[in-house]
Amino acid sequence: MSHYIEPAEITRQKDFLNRIKEINNNFYVKNGRKPLANTETYGCQQNENDTERIRGMLYEAGYDFCEKAEDADLVIYNTCAVRENAEDRVYGRLGILKHLKESRPELIIGLCGCMVQQEHIVEKIKKIHKHVDLIFGTHALYRLPELLYNTLKERETVIDIENCDGKIFEDMPILRDSSDKAWVSIMYGCNNFCSYCIVPYVRGRERSRAPEKILEEIKELVSDGVTEICLLGQNVNSYGKDLEQDIDFSDLLCMVNDIPGVQRIRFMTSHPKDFGDKLIDTMAACDKVCPQLHLPFQAGNNRVLREMNRGYTKEEYLEKIRRVKEKIPGISLSTDIIVGFPTETNEDFLDTLDVLRKVEFDSVFSFIYSKREGTPAAKLDFVLSEEEIHTNFNKLLEVQNEISKRKNDAYVGKTFTVLVDGVSKNNDEMLSGRTDTSKIVNFKGDAALKGKYVRVKVTEAHTWSLNGELAEEGI
Ligand code: SAH
Ligand code: SF4
Ligand code: F3S
Repeated sequence: MSHYIEPAEITRQKDFLNRIKEINNNFYVKNGRKPLANTETYGCQQNENDTERIRGMLYEAGYDFCEKAEDADLVIYNTCAVRENAEDRVYGRLGILKHLKESRPELIIGLCGCMVQQEHIVEKIKKIHKHVDLIFGTHALYRLPELLYNTLKERETVIDIENCDGKIFEDMPILRDSSDKAWVSIMYGCNNFCSYCIVPYVRGRERSRAPEKILEEIKELVSDGVTEICLLGQNVNSYGKDLEQDIDFSDLLCMVNDIPGVQRIRFMTSHPKDFGDKLIDTMAACDKVCPQLHLPFQAGNNRVLREMNRGYTKEEYLEKIRRVKEKIPGISLSTDIIVGFPTETNEDFLDTLDVLRKVEFDSVFSFIYSKREGTPAAKLDFVLSEEEIHTNFNKLLEVQNEISKRKNDAYVGKTFTVLVDGVSKNNDEMLSGRTDTSKIVNFKGDAALKGKYVRVKVTEAHTWSLNGELAEEGI
C-alpha cells in the first residue's frame, strides 16, 4: 500500500540502530554505564504515542532513560504546535538546556514533532538556539536512527523537516509507558482544516493503518498484560476512508471488541460532523467500549462554527448528543472549547454557555484562541479585547465547574469497577484509578492492586475527582 514506508527502508533504519548500539557499547566501556536519554512530550496523545516509539528505538540502540535533562547524554523534546503556550514552554526549556550544553558540550539536544514541522520555527531555532543538534519533523520520525547516527558521527547539526502528505511505518520498536493501558494509533493526519488549527499542516493528510496491523498490535499488547486500549486518531470517524477494504471506524470497534483479553476500549477524537447513528449503535452494542465520549464542539454560535469550518451547527450537535444520551444512558461526555475566536462577540459566546448548560458535560477542556501562522483564521481581526476574552473564559470555567461537581455528586454512594492506575500522584497513601466513564477515583489500598480491576464505593465528590473505599476485590 502506497501509504507505507517500504520494509527495505525499515530494515535500513534498524541497521542504523545497530550502528548506534556499537557507538554506545564503546561509551559503556569508557564510562562504565550506558548513555542516558531524557525524553519530554508536549501536546496530545498522538505525541505521547510517538514518544513511546522514540523511546523504543533509543532503548534498542542501547540507551537507558533518566528523569532529568541534567543527568542525560541525549535529550529529545517531542513538541506541539497547537497553541503558542505549548511552543513557549519548549523555548523556555531550550534556554535552560543552553547552560547545560555549555558545561557539557557532548550533550546531544534533539527537537522533534509538530512545532519543528514548521519552517519558520526551525529558522528561528537555528538563529537563536544554536545549541540544538538534531531537528526532525513528524514525517521523519522513522528516520530517527539514521539522523541520530549522523549526529553522533558528524557532531554537526542535523535537520530533517521534509514536508509530505505523510506515510505510515510499522514494525519499529516501541517502549510503552504503561503495562496496563495502551494508546494504539489507528490513523494519522487530518483533512479537516478547521480555520484556526495547525494540525493538518504539521501532520499531513489522513491515512489509516491496515486493520490487521492494528488488531495484531492489540493482540500482542493483551499477551503482555494490557487490558485497556485507547484508539487514537485526529478524527477517528475518518478511519478506513482511504483503504481499499470496505471498513469504517464502527467496524473496527467491533473487531477490537471481539479480541479476548481486552476489557476496556476508548477512542479519541471523534469529529461531530462525522459522528452518527452507526457509531452510537456500535458503542451501545459493544460491551467493552466504555460509556464515554469526547466530542469537541469548539463554539456554540453557528456563524462562528461556520468561520471555524467545522461543518455542523449548534442544533445538529445538540441533536447528536441527545441521541447518544438516549442510546447510552449514563454516558460521560467531554468536549473541547475555544474561547475568543477572532470574530466571536460577547453575544456569540453566550451560545457556547448555552451548549454547556444544555449538554451538561462531565468535563471540558477549554482553550483561549491562539493565532497560528499559516492558518486562515490568522488573517482575521479580533472583535474582543484580551481582557474581554479572559472574562468569558473565566465565566466558562465557573459555569462548567458547577456542572462537573454536580455530575460527580451523582456518583456518591454507588459502587463502580475501577482499573487501578497505581499510587496516587498527589498522595502516596492513596491509590488512583478510573471508572469506565473515565472518572478519577482515589481510595486506600495495596499498591499491588496496580493494573487490577476492583470495586470501589464512592464516598465523596470533588470537581475533578472522586474519593472512595474498596468494596470487594476483583470484578
Ligand atoms: N483533532 C481533535 C483535536 C485536535 S487539537 C479534534 O478535532 O477534536 C485539540 C484541541 O485544541 C482542539 O479541539 C481545539 O479545541 C484546540 N485548538 C486547536 N487549535 C487551537 C488554536 N489555534 N487556539 C486554541 N485552541 C486550539
Ligand atoms: Fe484540528 Fe480540526 Fe483537524 Fe481537529 S479536526 S485536528 S481541530 S483541523
Ligand atoms: Fe499538538 Fe501536534 Fe498533537 S500540534 S495537539 S502534538 S498533533
